[in-house]
Formats: sequence, C-alpha cells, structure tokens
Amino acid sequence: MIYMDNAATTIHKPEEVKAAVMAAFDTLGNAGRGASAPALDASRVIYDTREKLARLFHAGDARQIVFTANSTESLNIAIKGLFSEGDHVITTVMEHNSVLRPLYECRESGTELTILGCDGKGNISYEEMEAAVRENTKAVVCTHASNLTGNMIGLERVGRIARRHGLLFVADASQTAGVYPIDVEKMQIDVLCFTGHKSLLGPQGTGGMYVREGVRIRPLLSGGSGIDTYNEKHPAEMPTALEAGTLNGHGIAGLGAAVSWIEKTGMDRIREKEMSLMRRFYAGVSSIPGVRVYGDFEADKRAPVVALNILDYDSSEVSDELSTEYGIITRPGAHCAPLMHRALGTVEQGAVRFSFSCYNTEEEVDLAINAVRELACD
Ligand code: ALA
Repeated sequence: MIYMDNAATTIHKPEEVKAAVMAAFDTLGNAGRGASAPALDASRVIYDTREKLARLFHAGDARQIVFTANSTESLNIAIKGLFSEGDHVITTVMEHNSVLRPLYECRESGTELTILGCDGKGNISYEEMEAAVRENTKAVVCTHASNLTGNMIGLERVGRIARRHGLLFVADASQTAGVYPIDVEKMQIDVLCFTGHKSLLGPQGTGGMYVREGVRIRPLLSGGSGIDTYNEKHPAEMPTALEAGTLNGHGIAGLGAAVSWIEKTGMDRIREKEMSLMRRFYAGVSSIPGVRVYGDFEADKRAPVVALNILDYDSSEVSDELSTEYGIITRPGAHCAPLMHRALGTVEQGAVRFSFSCYNTEEEVDLAINAVRELACD
C-alpha cells in the first residue's frame, strides 16, 4: 500500500510512539485520582506531554495546554465557550466543518458571522479581513492551512490584525502542527487548536488546545477532576477548567513520544522532505493533459497536499481506481470543506486529495504520478 492520505490521519508513526503507548498500557493509573504509584505515573506522563507541547508552541506555561480528543473537540470548546449573542466573528471559506458547524450553531443563537471569500487560487485577503472588523467584532477564527488546497494563512499577519483591533484570535492548526513552527507569542494567538494524529504523528483520540492566560472559555464539560470534590462547581484553574473525566493517558503517552521524535528529528528536516515530495508530485501531474490541480503552488509556504481532478471523472471513482489498481490511498469527495469546494466549483465532482508525510518516498510519488497519467490517458 502507498499511503497518501496523511491529511486525514498519518498511519506510519515512529516506533517510539508505539512503544510509549504499549508501555503506558502496563503502567498508567488514573492521573490525579489518588497518590498510588500508577496514578502518579499517569500524572507524570501527562504533565511531561503538556510541557513538550508548551515548548513546541512556545507557550510559557504548560498549564495553558489542555488535552482533548482532537481538533474538533478543541474547536467546539473554544467557539461555543467564547461567543455569545451579539458578538461578531470573522472566519474564512478555507475552514473545515469543525470550525464552520460550531460557528453556524453560534449564529443560530445570535452570534453574527462574516465568512471571507477567496480568489481563484483559494487565497483569502488580509485587507478584506481587516475591513470586516466591526464595533462588535469579538474574534477571528481561522485555519493555518486549508485541508483541501494546502494554501496557508499567515498567522502572524492575522495576529497583528487581531491585536490592532483588540480581537481574540483562535487558530486551527490541524494540518500544520508538527510540520510548521507555531509560536503563540509571536503570532499573538489566543487559542490554538490542534490534533495529535496527523502531522504530530501521535495516536488517534489525542489533541488539545493552547489557551492564553486570562482568556476565559465557558467549559463544554464539567465533572470529575480529582480535586475540590465537594465544590458544586467544576474547578476554574487551568488546565482542569477545560478537562473533565479521565484523560486519554495511553494516547497522551504516545503523543509525548511523537513530539520528542519530531524534536529529535527536526521539524525543518521533516517539512523539507514533505515539501519536496509534494513539489515533485505537483511538477509531475500538473502538466498532464486533462489534470486540474487546485490551490496556490507559487506560495513559499503550503501544506504538503495536492488536490486534483482528472477530466470530468468523479473523484470517488478515481480514488477507488487508485486504490484497487495501484494500491494508492487518497481521499476523494468533499473533505469536510464545503465552502472551499464551492469556491473552487468542485461541489459535484469533489477532488482527489494526495497528502504526504515524511514516511513517503520519491519512488512512491513517481508511482502516483504514473498512475494519474495512466488514468488521464485512459
Ligand atoms: N480533516 C481530515 C481531512 O482533511 C479528516 O481529511
């Protein structure tokens, strides 16, 4: 199998990640519940991973890192916990449904929404973003990279706009955490949402959020915290304020090992390899007659994703054929990115997305280019 659906989830993980999960199965108790050796072991593993993530994202204090099951949960906590009736929020057509659907729910309860459009290559305009700010604008919520086109949004630029107007800045790093450096201080991000199972190379069911000190989010959940049991209210201290119930300690152990592996290997090295594979693939397929590639490939920075269509073939049929005839795994269809597909005019056809990880090889890329060529010339 040639796995090229890494924007959905990475299958190949460092051996250290698997080892850490297996070791956790043998040792972890329930963090914060009692002072037994297994409970303390769980607390230590979880705290270590918090510290590693705080370091990765340049967050000053590990207590500002909250664990969740994935980006979707983080984004739901942030969006539903920050916005109220009468607030105005700016977002973009580049967003995934994990941003859009919670925002639509807020809109039903009276939050006003501006969704910025894009140009023909799928890029948004920062001037339009700034011009959309109103008296009651509370926040900008946007992705770091489109999961469909791979186009990126300059978080530092958005951070400057947000600060200039006193807005909160919520960033979705689902497609970039672990590949691109993210500095929540320099980028002036107030809430950063990330998942563990994509380019962070951790297990599924792990993810989290960074929340700037002083930013108050109404919790989505309350319940067992292991502390202050006789208080009717869930603790207000971070990170417990946004974590209720037993955490995914086994997964978090794996995520910690994954972050260590990224630190050891070097994020720049990982990214350079993925970019080189993506560019090799783009160069190979973009000149094939009948192949249409979506997104901006002139930009210096982009996520390692290439979405394309072949003639007017249905993207699901192409993806099936790539899988059955060539053993190449891609993702067709709508990619939970309805507004981006609408903007590109691909609602009916969808698109076939190839997404690369550092475990892919040039040989695999060349086989994929040949497969696309054969399907296009069929
Ligand atoms: N959001 C994931 C993707 O882009 C699942 O495929």
